[in-house]
Amino acid sequence: MHTRYYLTLVLCLFACATVPFFLFHLNSEKNAIEATQKTVYHFEKVAGPIQPIPRKIEIDTRWVSLGKALFITPLLSKNNTISCSSCHLIDFGGDDGFPVSTGINNAEGTRNSPTVLNSSFNFRQFWDGRASSLSDQISGPVHNPIEMGSSWAEIIEKLKKDSYFNKLFHALDPQGVTRENIVKAITVFEESLITPNAPIDRYLLGDNNALTEQQQRGLEHFINHGCTSCHQGINIGGNMYQKLGRVNTIPEILIEDLGKYELTKQEQDRNVFKVPSLRNVADTSPYFHNGAVDDLTQAVTIMASSQLGRELPEDEIEDIVALLHAFSSKVIEVQ
Ligand code: HEC
Ligand code: HEC
Repeated sequence: MHTRYYLTLVLCLFACATVPFFLFHLNSEKNAIEATQKTVYHFEKVAGPIQPIPRKIEIDTRWVSLGKALFITPLLSKNNTISCSSCHLIDFGGDDGFPVSTGINNAEGTRNSPTVLNSSFNFRQFWDGRASSLSDQISGPVHNPIEMGSSWAEIIEKLKKDSYFNKLFHALDPQGVTRENIVKAITVFEESLITPNAPIDRYLLGDNNALTEQQQRGLEHFINHGCTSCHQGINIGGNMYQKLGRVNTIPEILIEDLGKYELTKQEQDRNVFKVPSLRNVADTSPYFHNGAVDDLTQAVTIMASSQLGRELPEDEIEDIVALLHAFSSKVIEVQ
């Protein structure tokens, strides 16, 4: 009896001494996990060539906030006049609405600004796919003399001097302002820019009334004519390279930029581009790599003839254009 009593007492004392330690340990482990939380999307797979955008996302909102602040600050450009959001307006389709973009000192580029919305679902970034990931992409505009014209060294110095940014960085990582942390924050912010619950997504997930009758006809044409052989998956595009047309069928306004060929000089890459996402396409006019086409009806007509070799009747084009409007939705709220 006595031995048992003492044994229990000793065990209790041992537990009292160690439980707080374990709790503390668990807690610090949790913090460590929080600090490196990777973005998790909850995908919902459906039958068919187009997949819905995840409605649920787990993301580190502290890094999202820092990334957003970096995305909209002009401090990332050489003369503090241009931010990422100058060319990618998050609330207006994620592009800039111009045929080609204008960077520092009013320098004009040669390509249309693509949307940054849902860009984390693209298999590569840029029209010619030259960046393999969002984090690789960021150095592009930062250094491009006709975009932000800056350098990491300059940017890091400016952000360290800025007490608001310096504090934000140190609150998230003891290393403070580093290139890795800048890239990480912007990338996590971009990962948050997804637009679920568009009419097409609600339709795919079983709400038969989410598309109008005309849009449902449009979806049939879009699939049956083969638009989905290229524009498919979660982003309705963004998951492969394709040649823009057969050379004789590309309209002259689109022929100059040779796409991937400009990088590789390989004959098979002539006029090859990443198939762009058609998510939110109704909000991202003008169209194509150089923004040469203002209007969706014309864009669809060009696609039908140059990509599929078909002259589609006017009513089918209109149905497809109506469908394209069902690809738009608002950016998900993550905080
Ligand atoms: C001066 C305008 C301009 C600025 C500033 C700018 N971009 Fe862009 N962005 C573009 C253009 C134009 C392209 C397409 C270039 C190409 O494909 O060759 C692009 C492409 C992208 C893409 C690839 C999207 C896709 O679907 O391929 C992402 C992501 C992006 N930018 C993010 C950013 C971020 C982050 C910043 C700030 C660090 C930034 N951009 C600053 C104009 C700009
Ligand atoms: C063989 C592959 C292929 C097929 C089939 C195809 N497309 Fe495309 N689509 C592309 C490529 C590549 C681009 C980018 C071309 C460029 O900008 O130079 C594009 C661009 C577009 C754009 C402009 C997007 C933007 O943001 O500028 C629209 C709209 C479009 N396609 C709709 C359609 C429709 C509708 C169909 C069916 C009638 C279709 N596409 C069939 C490959 C294809």
